[in-house]
Parts: sequence; C-alpha cells; structure tokens
Amino acid sequence: MRIDVLSIFPDYLDPLGLSLIGKAREQGLLDLRVRDLRDYTHDRHRTVDDTPYGGGAGMVMKPEPWGAALDALVADGAGAVPHLVVPGPGGMPFSQAMARTLASEEWLAFACGRYEGIDERVYEDAASRMPVTVLSLGDYVLSGGEVAVLAMVEAIVRLVPGVVGNAESLVEESHEDGLLEYPVYTRPSVWRGLEVPSVLLSGDHGAIARWRQRQRLLRTAARRPDLLHASEALGSEGLEIHVATAGDAAELSTLQRACWVSEAIANASLDIPPLTESLQAVRQGLREWRTWVVRDSGRLVGSVRGRRSAQDPSTWEVSRLMVAPDLQGRGIGRALLAFAEGAAPEDARTLWLNTGRGSADNLRMYKKAGYRIGPGEGTFPGTVDLTKLRQPVRGG
Ligand code: ADE
Repeated sequence: MRIDVLSIFPDYLDPLGLSLIGKAREQGLLDLRVRDLRDYTHDRHRTVDDTPYGGGAGMVMKPEPWGAALDALVADGAGAVPHLVVPGPGGMPFSQAMARTLASEEWLAFACGRYEGIDERVYEDAASRMPVTVLSLGDYVLSGGEVAVLAMVEAIVRLVPGVVGNAESLVEESHEDGLLEYPVYTRPSVWRGLEVPSVLLSGDHGAIARWRQRQRLLRTAARRPDLLHASEALGSEGLEIHVATAGDAAELSTLQRACWVSEAIANASLDIPPLTESLQAVRQGLREWRTWVVRDSGRLVGSVRGRRSAQDPSTWEVSRLMVAPDLQGRGIGRALLAFAEGAAPEDARTLWLNTGRGSADNLRMYKKAGYRIGPGEGTFPGTVDLTKLRQPVRGG
C-alpha cells in the first residue's frame, strides 16, 4: 500500500516512523511519503493562506499550493490516482468499517488542512480526477488534520494483510463484530487486593469464551448501548455470533449448499452461485466481504455478510443470509438481517440486497423488514434487487 501525506508541518508526522507502522515501512508493506505543502508554493514567503472572501475570522488555505501538490502526486502515479482523504470536523465519521474499506485501497493520499480550512475549489478540482472523502475523527475540533492522520493511518495500516502478525487478534477487537472487547488481565492473579476473575484461571475454555462474550455484551450495554442491536436477539436464543475467519470456509460452503437447495427449487434453477461455487470461491468471498457466522454449541448454523457498494459508497450491501434448514422459522434469519444492517457504516444511507424472483419466503421476510423490490431484473439474471432507506442512528 502507498500513502502520501501533505502537510505544512511534516515533522508532526514523524511518529509514522515508529512501532507497527515503522516496521510495516521497513518490511516494504507500506510505502509512506510525507510531503511539505510549502514545497509547492512559488513566493518568497512560501505562503499557504490568505483572508477569506466574504469576511470572517481566521485564514483560508490557498488553492494554488494544493493544486500543484495534487498535480505532482498524479504525475507520480503512472496512470494511477490516489483516493484522497481530507480529515476535517465536517466530514463523515471515521469508523472501523471505513478503516477496513480504506485498507483495501492501493494508494491513499491525506491532505492536512489548517486554519479555517482549504479553499472549497480544491475539493472540486481533486474530485474531477480522483475519489475524495472528507472524514472526521469525532465531534470536536482539532487545530489541523495531522493528529487525525496519525490516528487514521494507524487504524488503516494495521488492517493491511501482514502488518499485524497475528490476524486472529484483529478479529477479536472492539468494533470488529459490533461489540466492545472483553476486559483482559495478566499476572499477578492478585494485585493490590484485586483478584483476576476465577473463570480465567479455570482452564475451562468453553466457560472462558462464554464469560468473555457476556462481558462484551455487558460492557457494550453500559458504554455504547447504540451498538447493541440484533446481537442481543441472537444471544437470547443461546447463539453466538462471530466474525468469520478463513477457518470457517469449509463449514460455510456446506451450510450454503444446504440452505440454497430450497432456492433452487423455488426458482427452478441450479445456476445459483451459493449452491455451486467452489470452496476457493467461498474463501475469496470471506476476503471481499465482512462475514459473520452464528454457532449453536459449536455448530455453524447461520451466516450473513455485508460490504460497502463499490459503485455507490453510500449503499451497504447485505448478502448470503442463511440459517440451517432445521432451525428456520425461529426468527434467527430476521435477527441476522438486523445484525448485518446494524453493521453498516454510519454514513450508509441505503441498504441493498438481492434474492431470487421466485424466493417467496425470502421476499416475504425482506418486505416485512421494510425492503422494497426495485424495478425490472435484479443484478443477476432471475433475481430482484431490494432496497431500504436506512433509519438514522439513535439520536441522529
Ligand atoms: N481536523 C480538525 N478537527 C478534526 C476532526 N474532528 N477530525 C478530523 N480532522 C480534523
């Protein structure tokens, strides 16, 4: 992955040479270049700001240095262009889902604004030749984009394959499956009179996993009730939902074949990818989608996946919703659908899914969940597309 950062304070970004990111650069996993915006000025004082048209407090960043700096980036790209990210308090919220989306890009450029902001025409000019996204770290104002870039680059780069040694540790993190992380402890077992919860010393791995899942729910309910959507509903059925890993591929392949036989009958066609695709293709799907699996006492009994649409980033695609045939009719599918909807990035406005034109049961459930069938043929032959406008998040 390549990352370019443009700033009038290049030294501010020195920490990007340390720790995990420094190591990723040394290993050649990350090509990170910090450029001084003032190198693209042409006056003696290397001026980057001017007074705002229309009056008002503070200064505005001039368009010319930004234009020249972006021209230089494009000229350097041998036909490729970066996805330009401009951190700013007026942007869409930066989230784990957004970090994951950006981690799949080959080239990112960050433009660090200062003062009252960058002349609006810079965004317009850039958007005519590259994707441009304005992202905010949160609802507070920093003095410039540099601190935000440190945070965003760290969140993104650690998701680039190979950067974090133990990929499992990424799966188990806060926000990865919609819940916060469980509390962790290390030696000594008693410290200042405070004991480590005894279950963690028991050696009973099943009991430990159940305790941790419960702690995640309790912690999320206490600190971030807005995140507690359908994971609760599944929990009350005694089911556990996890982010799928490559190790789930074989069971997933078996489950999807079992689940799609009824679809083949309903649509009088065997030409349905989830029914026929290879294990290799299932593995590929796990890399391209955020997939969750539901387990009942260890058995894989359900799954769903979601991703931001490549054509329209404000659309969240939900797909491969499946529940083992013997457990259908208990509301598990509806809960999984709600879970996948809840995992959509905050800025997603439309939820999209696709099903066979003859899949009456699916269509009934989706309509009940508020989806409307789009006109004409769906994205795949013999299917229909369904969409639903997203409800604003609590308080939003
Ligand atoms: N620049 C200034 N404030 C910011 C924020 N909240 N997020 C990202 N970049 C910023």
